Amino acid sequence: MRIAIVYSSKTGNTEEVVDHLWQLFVEKQVQADCFRAEKFPTADVMDYDAIVIGTYTWGNGEIPREMRAIYEMFETYNLKDLVTGVVGTGDTCYPRFCGAVDKFRDMLFIQSNLAATLKIELTPQQEDYIRCNRFVEIIMERVKSIQYQ
Ligand SMILES: Cc1cc2nc3c(=O)[nH]c(=O)nc-3n(C[C@H](O)[C@H](O)[C@H](O)COP(=O)(O)O)c2cc1C
Repeated sequence: MRIAIVYSSKTGNTEEVVDHLWQLFVEKQVQADCFRAEKFPTADVMDYDAIVIGTYTWGNGEIPREMRAIYEMFETYNLKDLVTGVVGTGDTCYPRFCGAVDKFRDMLFIQSNLAATLKIELTPQQEDYIRCNRFVEIIMERVKSIQYQ
């Protein structure tokens, strides 16, 4: 199983979550590659069994500018069978908490095989690590369910 985690992070919260997810995948013997959004080779997307998107939220519930190309990749290529998940950090002080996760979720639900979403308040807390583990398990279960079809 080969998984790519593609993310952006300005102040490090999302990066902390993504690093933890990467570690969990590796512990579960998954080949996991982690890319900052600008570095992801979109032409290689079909080499992966699953893509996990990691994003913070900017503006008023907006997707960060550096994530636009990844968002558009799903609208451009036919990736309907690709398993995906989206995770993000945000701040509940804003009216659209993790709005970027909602935007990715709505698009990925149509354009891919969306398995899981996860929203985290700022830096991950103890209970978030449990949620991260469940997130990883759900992604892996979805990939396996396709492989055994
Ligand atoms: C200018 C600005 C706008 C923001 N807008 C939102 C927002 O609309 N919704 C939200 O949930 N969080 C919002 N946030 C909070 C960030 O998404 C949050 O701090 C996040 O954890 C940052 O992730 P990072 O550390 O990975 O960069 C905003 C933060 C800033 C500075």
